[in-house]
Amino acid sequence: MDYNILAKKAIDAKAFAYAPYSNFHVGAALLTKGGKVYTGCNVESAAFSPTCCAERTALVKAVSDGERDFAAIAISGGPTGADYCYPCGVCRQMLYEFGGDNLQIIVVKCEGDYNVHPLDTLLPHGFGAKDLSTRED
Ligand code: THU
Repeated sequence: MDYNILAKKAIDAKAFAYAPYSNFHVGAALLTKGGKVYTGCNVESAAFSPTCCAERTALVKAVSDGERDFAAIAISGGPTGADYCYPCGVCRQMLYEFGGDNLQIIVVKCEGDYNVHPLDTLLPHGFGAKDLSTRED
């Protein structure tokens, strides 16, 4: 899929953000290897720590729908023209769980303006299933 299209879906997903505390709206669009797209937004909580980032919202939607193989995720955060929004450490770890080193992270500034980073450049030496001997599937 053209990353411009995926980037636009991330921008559009911001419309659903529930972010009354930070007022920082984030949208994400996660592309499966089969070509499906799952979008997500950030969902905040008055207790703050239960807040779910847009990336994890999209990931959990996809995994709960049976998807486990992902090619790319586009992320757009903040108002139009805001700087690139990079995934937080927790999201990098969760994306690594299913995307591995080669998941393409597309940080979007606005339509037509994005940068692509393979996940291993944002999370070097990631810890994952390969490091555990207890994994069964
Ligand atoms: N947030 C995301 O959804 N994704 C990111 O990559 C960075 C941060 C959210 C969490 C919180 O709702 C708000 O942005 C401010 O941190």
